[in-house]
Amino acid sequence: MEPTPTSSGERLNRFLARSGVSSRRGAEEIMAAGQVTVNDVVVREPGAKIDPETDVVEVDGVRVGVATGRMYVMLNKPTGYVSTLSDPQGRKTIAELMPATDRRLFNIGRLDMDTTGLLMLTDDGELAHRLMHPKYHVSKEYLATVYGRPAEETLQLIRDGIELDDGPTAPAEISIDRPGDTTSVVRLVIREGRKRQVRRMLGAVGHRVLALHRVRFGPITLGDLPFGMTRELTPQETAALIENAGLGRMR
Ligand code: URA
Repeated sequence: MEPTPTSSGERLNRFLARSGVSSRRGAEEIMAAGQVTVNDVVVREPGAKIDPETDVVEVDGVRVGVATGRMYVMLNKPTGYVSTLSDPQGRKTIAELMPATDRRLFNIGRLDMDTTGLLMLTDDGELAHRLMHPKYHVSKEYLATVYGRPAEETLQLIRDGIELDDGPTAPAEISIDRPGDTTSVVRLVIREGRKRQVRRMLGAVGHRVLALHRVRFGPITLGDLPFGMTRELTPQETAALIENAGLGRMR
């Protein structure tokens, strides 16, 4: 699909500003620099217009969208908190770490009480449902501190898939991030989300997990957000997440 003719639609610089990418002037600059595409075609003309409903706008290859009216939050979960907003057993929950909001947020998947790292929350039920559904194979990346130093053959077992008591695991990616004699850090990417899956996979090949930290969920990376802190996703991150969930253009 070609960019919409310049006579109708919304100005591209206004759309970029409305999406939180930059100011209108800044938008013109990144357009002039050739960083903006509409339906895969570079658009540099300051007066270009688009149809925000149908055109696919990207900045440096990342999809841009406008606000959905929903809230998307990331948390760097510390250990010792359960990944629910209330707990009948009275344990500490992530609700204590949430920003003040009157929205009804819920978490997208869970991390074990003793797992740290990226956990996302939203009031966008459709998106959350998709991101948690095994059918969409959302990739999750973990850093696991394990006892010993896994041998290459051991890593290959994990890559090929291993037998757990609830069935075989799908092929996974694994590499050694920091080798050590007593403990090592491995980086593992899985596309499933079974209970204590990473701990069970590594335990099954003889490397008990001492600490587990999630650094990525689909296209969203934790970055340097401190433990216990939250922040809202940027419009670009939100658009990437929505696209990753197969929901296509912004709703
Ligand atoms: N795998 C685990 O074992 N625990 C988590 O919290 C997440 C993935």
